[in-house]
Amino acid sequence: MMGKFITFEGGDGVGKTTQATLLANALKTLGLKVKITREPGGNVIGEKIRNLMKSSSPSDMDPLCEALLMFAARRDHFVKLIKPLINKGYFVVCDRFYDSSLVYQGVLKKIAFEDIMALKKITIGDFEPDLTIILDVDSDVSIERLSTRKLILDEYDLMKKNEHDLIRKGFQKTAEIFSFRSVIVNAAGSEQKIFAKIMKIVQKRLLDILPSG
Ligand code: TMP
Repeated sequence: MMGKFITFEGGDGVGKTTQATLLANALKTLGLKVKITREPGGNVIGEKIRNLMKSSSPSDMDPLCEALLMFAARRDHFVKLIKPLINKGYFVVCDRFYDSSLVYQGVLKKIAFEDIMALKKITIGDFEPDLTIILDVDSDVSIERLSTRKLILDEYDLMKKNEHDLIRKGFQKTAEIFSFRSVIVNAAGSEQKIFAKIMKIVQKRLLDILPSG
């Protein structure tokens, strides 16, 4: 049986990593083969590119260079890890994927949508996630969560409220464009309450392999 590819998207501080981990654990307890991963990162080359990006100051990196690096990391991650695991029947749960490039390098850094989609086509072809969960919350909430969570903040963690708002709108737009695979989840409230909503969506969308609830 082919596996499934589930992505988590949304701005910084919305709770993607927490929810991706909760989902991966829940799927494991159902007896499924599961791999949790992230972008940029997830494998050796991806993590090196992540470190390069996180350690560079914003002015050091040209936006197109940043986009090319994101897709270079994604290409390696895709061919070496994501695709082989899906072919082996794994549920691969990924913390961010190419919607993040459309929003951060596209909306925020003003690279044209068509150019990002061209990079997508070159690097991963027509491949799409089976399901994308977009966590959506007021930027005041995500900024507050960020301030209490991380010790080392990168360029994107230090953004102002207007940039958080732009990113939030960007993901709302990707949800519209890719409505066939995207579901927006209100990420306000407790982790367990948010997770219950996500689990229901996964059950409904991937019903053939999960018990209905
Ligand atoms: P995070 O894993 O802590 O969210 O950090 C990843 C950062 O990388 C985040 O601020 C968003 C950024 N990013 C991009 O700019 N483009 C991309 O394509 C991806 C996957 C992440």
